[in-house]
Amino acid sequence: MTTATDAGAPGADAGPNGPAALAAQGIVVRFGGLTALSDVSLDVPRGSIVGLVGPNGAGKSTLLGVLSGLLSPNEGTVRLLGDDVTGVSARHRAIRGVARTFQQPELFMGLSVREHLVLAYRARVAPRRMWLDMLNPAALFRTAPGETDTVDGLLERLHLTHVAKAPVAALPLGVIRLVEVARALASEPKVLLLDEPLSGLDIHGSENLVGVFREIVDRSDDGLALVIVEHDVAAVLALSDSVVVLDFGERIAVGTPEEVRSDSAVRAAYLGDVEPPTRTAAGQEGPAPGSAVDGQGAGA
Ligand SMILES: Nc1ncnc2c1ncn2[C@@H]1O[C@H](COP(=O)(O)OP(=O)(O)OP(=O)(O)O)[C@@H](O)[C@H]1O
Ligand SMILES: [Mg+2]
Repeated sequence: MTTATDAGAPGADAGPNGPAALAAQGIVVRFGGLTALSDVSLDVPRGSIVGLVGPNGAGKSTLLGVLSGLLSPNEGTVRLLGDDVTGVSARHRAIRGVARTFQQPELFMGLSVREHLVLAYRARVAPRRMWLDMLNPAALFRTAPGETDTVDGLLERLHLTHVAKAPVAALPLGVIRLVEVARALASEPKVLLLDEPLSGLDIHGSENLVGVFREIVDRSDDGLALVIVEHDVAAVLALSDSVVVLDFGERIAVGTPEEVRSDSAVRAAYLGDVEPPTRTAAGQEGPAPGSAVDGQGAGA
């Protein structure tokens, strides 16, 4: 497992395993008079999971937009495996290895799980054919070379083999989220950006998905890295190798889950946002038991 590093200093993104999968440096994003991100840096080593948390409006989605290429920063750079991709469009970043999932699942409800993965595979290896297949569903049954092995492998990795033939509309949300992740992985990304993948899931679905995230990173031969934006802070602290905390557009903490959990600025940001402090026996204020930063709460 790759350890967390800090992208605060120039060149800090080149760790012992070579350049980081993704590294953002000095990112500034302004929306009119509002500074949504103020000099934010983030390093995503290969083979690691980086959690991105913070109270509402902290700038998490904005940073994800900058990493994926949907948003251009006013200042700062984004590097993908050491290459400057700041000016590269989202579409070309996707081709070069940045995949993402959206908070609202964007799936074709009538298609089966396998059909989604087949389309995603063809989008990568034969994009012209994919559009023809969309117009003529019968063409979905004509298999492209290498397709069956790849799709079967993805179904197995995401524990979806038993529902391969089921239409997505018939599946519970937890399984739909697995389909989204499988579809994103069909493009063989270097980095997968996940925007609130646990939202709407019950504890069982959430734990299952967290387990799958760890598994796909640990089993990746290619150093796949994940960036996960999530309100469920307890899940992020349990899952991530490093955690970045944003508050009002500023990076207020970065480090291992243990470091972040005990960081006073983080506790202040969350206690101000989430739970009132409780009184200890000595009459001192302390973090609320089960609050988000204690790793036991339900989230921000
Ligand atoms: N397109 C936009 N135009 C103007 N302001 C925006 C835009 N997108 C985001 N903002 C503002 O930028 C700030 C950061 O928003 P962002 O959505 O990144 O926060 P967030 O951390 O993802 O919050 P949440 O947890 O509520 O999803 C907020 O004040 C938000 O209102
Ligand atoms: Mg958001």
